[in-house]
Amino acid sequence: MPRVTVHRRAHFNSAHRLYRKDWSDEKNAEIFGKCSNPNFHGHNYELVVSLTGEIDKETGYVFDLGKLKKIIKEEVEEPFDHKNLNIEVEEFKNLNPTAENISVVIYHKLRRIIPSHLDIEITLYETPRNFVTYSGK
Ligand code: NI
Repeated sequence: MPRVTVHRRAHFNSAHRLYRKDWSDEKNAEIFGKCSNPNFHGHNYELVVSLTGEIDKETGYVFDLGKLKKIIKEEVEEPFDHKNLNIEVEEFKNLNPTAENISVVIYHKLRRIIPSHLDIEITLYETPRNFVTYSGK
């Protein structure tokens, strides 16, 4: 059977601050720039979740996108949207909430739920021009 990739877009707004507790404010500002503002700042994150696998013979689907929509809502949008990632989201209490780390956290949350025969790729836009991808490697 052909292997096909299906995609679902989602969106969340979150605040964050990029910093290391063991660095001075000066060093954090030097490395992370504006994203290290001690008073936090927000991004409009755009997420694309891509699932690759064989087309199911009975349904003609790779994966039901209605189900994927619900999974993304419960696992990503509800816990992250309008939240301060550093303060309110457990996964980032000791993990710098860069787009790279956010994409890895999302991948692992979805990997627990999406059937194992499907490959997952996370594409996360922090700005329209800056984005990262992660596929579990
Ligand atoms: Ni930022």
